[in-house]
Amino acid sequence: VALLCTVCAGAGVWIWNSQTVDTTDAVDFTRPLAVPPLAPSRLEGGRRVFDLRAQAGTHDFGRGTTPTWGFNGDVLGPTLRATRGEQVVVNVTNGLDQTTTVHWHGMHLPPEMDGGPHQLVAPGRTWSPAWKIEQPAASLWYHPHLHGETAKHVYQGLAGMFIVDDPATSVAALPHEYGVDDIPVIVQDRKFDAKGKLDDAPGIFSGVGVLGDTIAVNGTVGPYLEVKTQRVRLRLLNGSNARVYDFGFADGRQFDLVGTDGGLLEAAHRTDRLMLSPGERAEIVVTVKAGERTVLRSYPPDLGTGVFGRFTGGADSFDVLQLRASGTLSASPEVPQRLVATPRLDRADAAQQREFKFSGHSINSRQMDMTRVDFAPEQDTTEVWRVVNNDGQPHNFHVHDVQFQVLTVSGAAPPPRLSGWKDTVYLHPDETYELIMRFTDYADADTPYMFHCHVLFHEDAGMMGQFVVVPPGGRPGVIDHGSHLA
Ligand code: C2O
Ligand code: CU
Repeated sequence: VALLCTVCAGAGVWIWNSQTVDTTDAVDFTRPLAVPPLAPSRLEGGRRVFDLRAQAGTHDFGRGTTPTWGFNGDVLGPTLRATRGEQVVVNVTNGLDQTTTVHWHGMHLPPEMDGGPHQLVAPGRTWSPAWKIEQPAASLWYHPHLHGETAKHVYQGLAGMFIVDDPATSVAALPHEYGVDDIPVIVQDRKFDAKGKLDDAPGIFSGVGVLGDTIAVNGTVGPYLEVKTQRVRLRLLNGSNARVYDFGFADGRQFDLVGTDGGLLEAAHRTDRLMLSPGERAEIVVTVKAGERTVLRSYPPDLGTGVFGRFTGGADSFDVLQLRASGTLSASPEVPQRLVATPRLDRADAAQQREFKFSGHSINSRQMDMTRVDFAPEQDTTEVWRVVNNDGQPHNFHVHDVQFQVLTVSGAAPPPRLSGWKDTVYLHPDETYELIMRFTDYADADTPYMFHCHVLFHEDAGMMGQFVVVPPGGRPGVIDHGSHLA
């Protein structure tokens, strides 16, 4: 009898979990989209200095008063913005009652400034990483990376955007007035309990951790954006713990994909759909007509035909953001066809090839070990990494320090959305992704960078590893945990 009950209960949970979420045409867009403020900065001794303070607060998601965490505010954080060539310092103060870290996702910087699981910031302490911005114009982001706790800290609200400017790799004709025609769009799914508290309990069969039934954009539920120009640039960030989105417009309109994780594309790509897995970014330009309204949606993403697809959000659809065009619009230039020349990395230059097999909560059958260095690329070398998801459930792959190019997807040339600089790539079950990257500097045998699945539940469960960049002929040393702030 006990067995029967267990089976019945299991089946009940199975059915409950397999209910699809569909909020299309059900969201009333009654709240203006919050736009994160640009973080103030000051110049000190030639360095641009920012202050970020992680703190607890409360936020209105339309469910009453929800306890949250944020940077310099109740939820999310300000947008940091700096220009290539600048030296930056960020004073990160931990005003929480527990240790955290802040990682600069997509940033090329020395490993001890990276904010990964070794750069702990204890409650009440301030950590002040400093580095020189040395990469193309791009939409990067920042978030905690405390091993085993990343999912929780991000879900509570700790995340923000970091825009890198670089006149040499930007395009003046693209909309670029922050908060006017150039808008960060941080998309996060959330679930709430009866009291309006954030609920991060993973669905029993979801396999990927929490999947929410409510979409918040920049922390706003049911958001609309007043558009006053003919064209608007949306800097989309999938800041969700696990959910994959397939963005498009409810009226089927096309838009221009102009940038991906690490910068602008060589050529604008006209499309009507764009898939983003957790951690990925894309810059799109949307054209509107005076007075019209259109809704940015997420359609059911193709997560594979395996049984897991359905339980990982593969059947869900959402209304995300309504665009409301004013009665009169200021003119915007056409989106240029050619954007930014991007030199292709060449397979013939690769000094090393590595294989990564994603399965269970492991990469190459190994789980994260804070004391183990998995491999050590040499500075000033190019490598090709072959990444395969053998698991039947969706994963993605993120690597710190570098931006990579996708050489092939299961032997074929990558689609346009994977043609530019990337630091995170969705791994469709049973496809093989060949990535090429170059390790240009910051050799440090003692401080590792991370590579991992950016489904945060998987990352916390151990689907992560560490590498150090060594000088030519060098060997990995003993890991410096940087625990002085712990
Ligand atoms: Cu967005 Cu290793 O992280
Ligand atoms: Cu994963």
